[in-house]
Amino acid sequence: MRRAVCPGSFDPVTNGHLDIVTRAAGLFDEVVVAVLVNKNKRGLFTVEERMEMLAEVTAPLGNVRIDSFHGLLVDYCRAHDIRAIVKGLRAVSDFDYELQMAQMNQQLSGVDTLFMSTSPEFSFIASSLVKEVATFGGDVAHLLPPAVHRRLLERIAEQA
Ligand code: PNS
Repeated sequence: MRRAVCPGSFDPVTNGHLDIVTRAAGLFDEVVVAVLVNKNKRGLFTVEERMEMLAEVTAPLGNVRIDSFHGLLVDYCRAHDIRAIVKGLRAVSDFDYELQMAQMNQQLSGVDTLFMSTSPEFSFIASSLVKEVATFGGDVAHLLPPAVHRRLLERIAEQA
């Protein structure tokens, strides 16, 4: 079984994430989307809510599973027999840090990181920017799956 992980915060999942997960699902037998549990950083959505949204938007793919993890990503990979980490690269600015993490992870565990170039129409999308734009009333409907967009607007309204 060729299994890969797409790790991240996914607060919330965007069309950019979905693009990478969908393409990874075409290359591997199984793709695990793993949400980082970060006790030091409170997100807009809880980890459970993020996982729910991910499960909903990846349901049509069939070979994608949603999970969460804490601690080192490579420990999660080892425990779940995952040999590859798939990451999307949006721009050159992503590369320095991603390369550093990829090399560290490779040296720690032998798990390889595969970089996939984000489709150009998604290259500027980041969850943090989407949240900021939506908070100030900007239209982000085209950047998110419809169900996620709806939940983002609800959450922002609750917090106003
Ligand atoms: O969506 P993000 O926040 O950019 O994802 C970052 C993530 C979760 C992929 C990265 O922070 C990570 O792998 N964290 C787990 C802790 C870890 O393994 N750290 C060492 C990296 S070399």
